Amino acid sequence: MNLLCKIIVACLITGALTDEHDHIYEDNEEVVLWMNTVGPYHNRQETYAYFSLPFCVGSKETISHYHETLSEALQGVELEFSGLDIEFKADVPKTQYCGVQLNDEKYKAFVYAVKNHYWYQMYIDDLPIWGIVGEVTDSNYYIWTHKKFEIGYNGKQIVDVNITSEDKVLLTPTAKLTFTYEVIWKRSDVKFEDRFDKYLDPNFFQHRIHWFSIFNSFMMVIFLVGLVSMILMRTLRKDYARYSKDEDMDDMERDLGDEYGWKQVHGDVFRPASHALLFSALIGAGHQLTTVVFCVIIFAILGDLYTERGSLLSTTIFVYAATSPVNGYFGGSLYARMGGKIWIRQMLVSAFMLPALVCGTAFCINFIAIYYHASRAIPFGTMVAVTCICLFVILPLTLVGTVLGRNLAGQPDYPCRINAVPRPIPEKKWFMEPGVIILLGGVLPFASIFIEM
Ligand SMILES: *[C@@H]1O[C@H](CO)[C@@H](O)[C@H](O)[C@H]1NC(C)=O
Repeated sequence: MNLLCKIIVACLITGALTDEHDHIYEDNEEVVLWMNTVGPYHNRQETYAYFSLPFCVGSKETISHYHETLSEALQGVELEFSGLDIEFKADVPKTQYCGVQLNDEKYKAFVYAVKNHYWYQMYIDDLPIWGIVGEVTDSNYYIWTHKKFEIGYNGKQIVDVNITSEDKVLLTPTAKLTFTYEVIWKRSDVKFEDRFDKYLDPNFFQHRIHWFSIFNSFMMVIFLVGLVSMILMRTLRKDYARYSKDEDMDDMERDLGDEYGWKQVHGDVFRPASHALLFSALIGAGHQLTTVVFCVIIFAILGDLYTERGSLLSTTIFVYAATSPVNGYFGGSLYARMGGKIWIRQMLVSAFMLPALVCGTAFCINFIAIYYHASRAIPFGTMVAVTCICLFVILPLTLVGTVLGRNLAGQPDYPCRINAVPRPIPEKKWFMEPGVIILLGGVLPFASIFIEM
């Protein structure tokens, strides 16, 4: 079990840093075209395995299935060999590679795909390529049967791939489809390091960035921050004015007089939470999450995480596991300051809360994915791997952090003492009830995301 885990961690690290291929090709060396997914153009999250449509495979046989990294498996990347014979710098004239005799079932599958604007994704030398399955004109369904690959090379490396779909064929329940391909190699001046730049060009996907909704959300945030800080400032300033007027009163009088303003809460703010365990676990997880987000953003800015399939997710998982001590430190020390005694349970809750929530959600989605045979379905081995990471990496690191936190920052060190008797909380209006506040607080983020989607 432990060995398995070491292997997984090693895979994660190497997966994030290196690649299986060195991307150097000799003349006539085999270039593999991998088929990835097919799905509706207008919902990019919905993907199925390429061969879930009755497409056919070319005659060439090689390994037909592989997973490169854990995160690819998590993202539902499932590459299958296309069977097309492509060799480096060797042009291929229009060649038939396979045929499909349609029957009722296959006909329906293709019609459904064409109707819903299905497109497929392939990889050549890690460069993604997209092609559209077919076209509808006046309730006639056509399928593209010819794939023309134009591959640009620079020295011994592949730097650019274009695909053009040609030869529309009308779909009928008894048609026999023959699929053809063609490869044209072109010398290109694109540098190997820059070969992903064209995918960053906003024109490439021809969809506009939603500037309006980004602007909208941004203004909403600014407006709200302004509003809240104005209210706070006004209240505080009023209180300060009254306090400074009271300076002249002698101490006796002040002790007797009722406290008012924000000083009313000073005897209660440091009182331990009523669910100290859960509270400190949440605080710890929050610290960790913030750290992870910052680290991943920095990595993404420094390195080209987008050029490699799944490397963003691998990095995130790796950083999450590596920053577990942060979680333990802040959660554990807060729990100790609040006088918590069952710290082992607190650590377990802290360590597993977020992974359990995420995995639980993924698990539910997984069931739906399996039901619809979507390619997002996560293989069982991957689930085992994730569990291993939780048990053998995250847990020990959280333990280290918790022990450090309890010993270094576990002593309460509050600027004012805690009143022995909690101050009664005044009767609240209906809109101050936790339930209403939780709902209202969620409305804005939800609205922003909803508009964006
Ligand atoms: C691919 O298409 C782009 C844009 O049309 C073009 O600039 C580039 O040269 C093409 N690459 C190849 C290898 O044909």
